[in-house]
Amino acid sequence: MVVSRIKFAFFLAHPGVFACKIAGKLFSANTPAVAGQAMTKKCALEAIRHSLLSMSCTKKEAMQQPGTIEKADFGVMPDSTKVCIYTLLNHSGITMKVTNYGGIITSLMVPDKNGVAADIMLGYDSLSGYLTKTPYFGALIGRYGNRIAKGKFTLDGKEYTLALNDGPNHLHGGVKGFDKVVWEAEEIKTDSSVGIKLHHLSKDGEEGYPGNLDVTVTYTLNDDNSLVFDYNATTDKATPINLTQHSYFNLAGDGDIKSHELMISATKYNVVDSTLIPTGELRDVKGTPFDFTIAKPIGKDLVAAGGKPIGYDHNFILDTKGIKDLAVRVVEPTSGRTMEVYTDQPGIQFYSGNFLDGTITGKLGKVYQQYSGFCLETQHFPDSPNQPAFPSTTLKPGEKYHTTTIYKFL
Ligand code: BGC
Repeated sequence: MVVSRIKFAFFLAHPGVFACKIAGKLFSANTPAVAGQAMTKKCALEAIRHSLLSMSCTKKEAMQQPGTIEKADFGVMPDSTKVCIYTLLNHSGITMKVTNYGGIITSLMVPDKNGVAADIMLGYDSLSGYLTKTPYFGALIGRYGNRIAKGKFTLDGKEYTLALNDGPNHLHGGVKGFDKVVWEAEEIKTDSSVGIKLHHLSKDGEEGYPGNLDVTVTYTLNDDNSLVFDYNATTDKATPINLTQHSYFNLAGDGDIKSHELMISATKYNVVDSTLIPTGELRDVKGTPFDFTIAKPIGKDLVAAGGKPIGYDHNFILDTKGIKDLAVRVVEPTSGRTMEVYTDQPGIQFYSGNFLDGTITGKLGKVYQQYSGFCLETQHFPDSPNQPAFPSTTLKPGEKYHTTTIYKFL
């Protein structure tokens, strides 16, 4: 501790060219939350401020043992409900922070090819950021991930009306979707994993959806560096359901994601209209900017992909046959960080962060510009409740909704 303070003093006195290097070493010794952060000079000073502010709270954190979960306060909701944050550390060097507000993953520290960890997740340092303005950073999405055209659908002969929170459409479960709910949380631990089980009873009529939906979602961080999302639900009335996870990744920990190399095992994608509702046409990716069947940098055909704002915001129809098949691989060439996605879902929304526009300042003072992060939202096709040709998203009483997605880090 004495040595650390001397280092700190030295660092404060020399905030020049060596700032990032020193900060990286210093923080990896004292503050796992920012361990070895791939820091720019600009953010190094912000990191010091952050570290000083949180030192008393992080003392225990610094001692955290692999294979353990630590719980801390994350703040209070406007209605006084307390929100917690859980720090999960596996035996292979990954640290994940999850809050029970929205099931949000606030941070994921993953080692690079040299063992240096960086936070590969976009988001905020504090609950207030998530309460003020968030494009679903790190969040658990439901009852229906993605869009439902004009916020209407008919089920068992009855028409339901949902909030229009995305132009003319309904998006990600509405005004107060599952991303804005305080979930009940339970810590789960085995010899080779650390996890959190989240539970929410979504009442009949919540956000306009029918039926009491009992939802349990478990996030498990295994020692093989796989992060498993297990979604379960039952209902007492037929309802559409399409749960997913909306984490924004940047495998470099900084900068934009255009040089990340992406492979998606999908030979077709859903063509969408100008409001991002599928037209019903499933188009071959061959010869289009949407062909990721052979890995290519995300930036290569990004402009050609078009859209307003320009970029990828499309649902790819997976060729995979189940959870054992590789659906997606993303490689960040400089750090060597690699992420794989496995899922039993029929589609994946690849979103290249097109709507990020520099108006959000997130963790460590980072300003999130367009393409600062990407999402890989495993799910059913958008607007399925209105498109009978698409695989059904209806859950009926007596049925069990169970889906699994794995993000694996190599
Ligand atoms: C949607 C985007 C939306 C983003 C954040 C994605 O899942 O497809 O259109 O802007 O979420 O709101």
